[in-house]
Amino acid sequence: MVAAPDIQVTKVQHSKIKDVDFGHLPFGKFFTDHMLVAKYDNRKWESVEIKPYQSLSLDPSLTALHYGQSIFEGIKAYKDEHGEVFIFRPYDNFKRFNTSAARMNMPEVPEEIFMEGMRELIRIDRDWIPAEKDHSLYIRPFMFATDAMLGVHPSDTYLFIIILSPTGPYYPRPLKIVVEEKYTRAAPGGVGFAKNAGNYGGSLLASTEAQKQGYDQVLWTDAFEHKWLQEVGTMNVFFVIDNKAVTPSLDEGTILDGVTRKSVITILNEMNVPVEERHVHVDELVKAYQEGRLQEVFGTGTAATIASIQTVKYQDHVLEFSEKDWILSMEVKKRLDAIRLHQAPDTHEWMFKV
Ligand code: COI
Repeated sequence: MVAAPDIQVTKVQHSKIKDVDFGHLPFGKFFTDHMLVAKYDNRKWESVEIKPYQSLSLDPSLTALHYGQSIFEGIKAYKDEHGEVFIFRPYDNFKRFNTSAARMNMPEVPEEIFMEGMRELIRIDRDWIPAEKDHSLYIRPFMFATDAMLGVHPSDTYLFIIILSPTGPYYPRPLKIVVEEKYTRAAPGGVGFAKNAGNYGGSLLASTEAQKQGYDQVLWTDAFEHKWLQEVGTMNVFFVIDNKAVTPSLDEGTILDGVTRKSVITILNEMNVPVEERHVHVDELVKAYQEGRLQEVFGTGTAATIASIQTVKYQDHVLEFSEKDWILSMEVKKRLDAIRLHQAPDTHEWMFKV
């Protein structure tokens, strides 16, 4: 454990928690009373503050707005039945955050600010953690460039902020996805593995076009042939073929190294389900479906947790699944939920006590 940073804390005079309907918590719509703000200047992190959640005052020439130096993470905190609060694998997100920072030519955020700052913020806003099934406190750390200047350059100044959102399921119902053959999310050498804001901005047109055809999201493919499967809009993807779990490999740097993805792989290993991390061609998927060997498809992500996929469309092929097929994904979800809620032993030390 690292030392807590010197944090200046200013608390709200009146909490707004009573204004929030905890029976209706759409993803990422409501925010807790406080936020953490750290400032980087003169080549160092100069201040860390926890203060009432509020608007930011930003210069119109802010480099993040013009040139996109902006990264984020998604993490979840849970309260167990004894009221103890735990964060799921935050250290993995901390490491990935700094991997994204390095790729986007931004400074690293030190462990004591990221981890201990987050812990302190959650301690202050712990009453906001929902207790309902499939609910959690979604933690959004992010960093962006704050130089006020239009020259294209890596900024000298940054803000690192953490906000918290009590939240329900990201996808409340099974998803219909379409294999993307026109647009590209990521190519080798690009920024696909980083959690930078632009990856999401660049995906919106494709998902809007998919929605117009009656689908929820796209299944991204490689930049050259549009045949090799990558990930779904906001999550990694798994295919169960011949009783094996197959997921696209990370080796080309085009896919996010998902924390839920790797937790699912660990759980599948414990269940003695063979896991293959490798390149997956869309024709393999269609053929396996036609031969009755493609058993289920599901997505994994912090926001999405384990998301059942009902339909995968590729050209004229419509691959359909229903509740009776989601056997492995539901078992993995059950095991993951049990660890998160402290109803099963945390043998991998995934839960970080607040
Ligand atoms: C997450 O799973 O936390 C994500 O980052 C997806 C998000 C863009 C909603």
